[in-house]
Amino acid sequence: MSENIRKEIEQLRCKIRRHERLYYVDNAPEIGDADFDRLMRRLEALEAERPDLIAPDSPTQRVGGEPASELPTVAHRLPLMSLDNAFNEEELRAFDGRVKRLTAREDSNEEIEYVCELKIDGLAVSLTYENGVYALGSTRGDGQTGEEVTANLRTIRSVPLCIDNAPNLLEVRGEAYIPKAKLDEVNAQREANGETPFANPRNAAAGSIRLLDAGVAASRPLDIFIYSVGESVGLRLKSHAEALDLLKSCGFRVNPETRRVANIDEAVQFCQEWKERCRDLPYETDGVVVKVNSIAQQEELGATAKAPRWAISYKFPSEQAVTTIQEIHIQVGRTGVLTPRAALEPVEVSGVTVSHATLHNMDEIARLDVRVGDTVRIERAGGVIPRVLSVLKERRPEGSKPFEPPTSCPVCGGGAVRLPGEAALRCINPSCDAQLKRSVEHFAGRSAMNIDTLGPKRIAQLVDACFLKDVADIYILEPKPLAELDRMGDGTAANLMYAIEQSKEQDPSRLLHGLGIPFVGLTIAELLMEEFASLQAVAAASMEALEGVHGIGEKVAASVVQYFALPANRERIDRFKEYGLTLERDKEENGGPQPLEGMAFVMTGELPSLTRSEAKARIEEAGGRVTSSVSKKTAYVVVGANPGSKLGRAEALDIPILDESALLKLLDG
Ligand code: IVH
Repeated sequence: MSENIRKEIEQLRCKIRRHERLYYVDNAPEIGDADFDRLMRRLEALEAERPDLIAPDSPTQRVGGEPASELPTVAHRLPLMSLDNAFNEEELRAFDGRVKRLTAREDSNEEIEYVCELKIDGLAVSLTYENGVYALGSTRGDGQTGEEVTANLRTIRSVPLCIDNAPNLLEVRGEAYIPKAKLDEVNAQREANGETPFANPRNAAAGSIRLLDAGVAASRPLDIFIYSVGESVGLRLKSHAEALDLLKSCGFRVNPETRRVANIDEAVQFCQEWKERCRDLPYETDGVVVKVNSIAQQEELGATAKAPRWAISYKFPSEQAVTTIQEIHIQVGRTGVLTPRAALEPVEVSGVTVSHATLHNMDEIARLDVRVGDTVRIERAGGVIPRVLSVLKERRPEGSKPFEPPTSCPVCGGGAVRLPGEAALRCINPSCDAQLKRSVEHFAGRSAMNIDTLGPKRIAQLVDACFLKDVADIYILEPKPLAELDRMGDGTAANLMYAIEQSKEQDPSRLLHGLGIPFVGLTIAELLMEEFASLQAVAAASMEALEGVHGIGEKVAASVVQYFALPANRERIDRFKEYGLTLERDKEENGGPQPLEGMAFVMTGELPSLTRSEAKARIEEAGGRVTSSVSKKTAYVVVGANPGSKLGRAEALDIPILDESALLKLLDG
């Protein structure tokens, strides 16, 4: 009997690992989320029966353990070096010249073979596997000593927890990062919470990996690319390309754009090409790393105290520009946070016209001493709102005055205060129109109730006309008075009423997210609904009950409790119930419209804003299925950046092709 359990546990782990790899590393899932969850739940149940069989490399152990009080440090056995930089073609060629000289090739015509890799903008980390099992994760730190983040890196689903045919000891290195689209979300959430947004992708990754609570880290959309083998025992590799192949075969996620080239000309070409193309990637890159391919040559070249002589980092030209500040506006966020924003003399930065930049908060203004009329240097990185880097003080006009923080809300005139421990100023008037507008925008937005005819302009009109005094008033709008508003008419009013009616069927996790509770993004809302099954149960949950949910930490739990402690917020839930919104999860009943009933979809490539799992969830919600291979039965193939061979097959079979926006239209019926 107990032998049977052991066997089944082993088999389940093996299956789950395979499906995790297919989904998170190879982008080619073979089974649906529901089937995957079923395997996972069965394994959890068996492990609960036999806790003695729980092993750290079990797929159930990605999120577990107690939050740390501080991160311990680890001394790296082999230092994690840094890289020398090249800023242009000439410097790349000088590097090649040096390599040839030091390997005594300058007089022959022999070329040096290189591997070109995108330089991912995230946080450098190291992962150690002992006898094939993930045993230690650490940050690069200063290169000699890093911080131990084993539990947090384990939450990244593309990190294999065990590898087959591994040497006794294998240390791999790579870059952990947050995808661009997710970075936007994380930053928008931080601004709404009165926190300073992450200034760059690296800080975002570092902030998420260095969290003390792996449960919270698990809710951050982290991913990883592995780019080299560090320490190892018993491996004999001839080239870097071979090392990358080995890493791929072990199940690590290696960047697919990596290219082996025959000489420096081709390396230069790779750098030129990606200087432009990098904007279309779903993750941030800040250059290209060019590495000598042959390990024998690498050894011949050696390293300086700081960096290897066999690699160079070509930096993309920085996306900066100089312009002037015309005005400093104060924007009022959904939770009343007052965010200063600079209106700029429009300027082009890497192909995009920028006319606004964020100034984050009053501390930032004071730190930079930004004033109206100043000439400033700004920076734009994809996934991050343009920001002011510095003031060119020598160009400051005479008689300019320091910016005065507002003492009242620019919209409602209510008090603006700074709460203890917060960098942000907040408008403390709960019925401030600006807050209401932002709250309704969030509620009706794509990640929440998705009422697409209810955009910011329409919302402003409805609030200004006193049709909306609370988010819940959306559901008592009447077609007649609506139709009488400017730019409305019967047809538009009827469309709006229809879209509002449809939204009542949305899954309650979207409603919960739509409430705009600080720190409750869609992922957290999903976790809560999975656990509590109804909005009323979430509203009634205690601090302990909330903290008991995997992936929910103290901060989120406290925020939820605080929100529902307010009578007005509880009453809003009662109103939603009265108006017929879906507050409970009931798979059978929660039918909703099923525009994609019975259709099979295949996905290939990376979509600009939806992740693969989000796209899949939305297709399934609408009644469709996602399958892994294209056949005559496939209804549509959804294609994103860098599609695979599935695109060719779709074209050969004449299957209609959708991009993300066409998919979204289809989903909206
Ligand atoms: S190779 C000795 N390859 O860039 C070789 N580094 O200054 C050192 N980085 O923070 C690293 N993508 O994490 C290498 N494909 C790549 C990289 C990469 C990003 C980061 C690395 C470190 C910095 C090196």
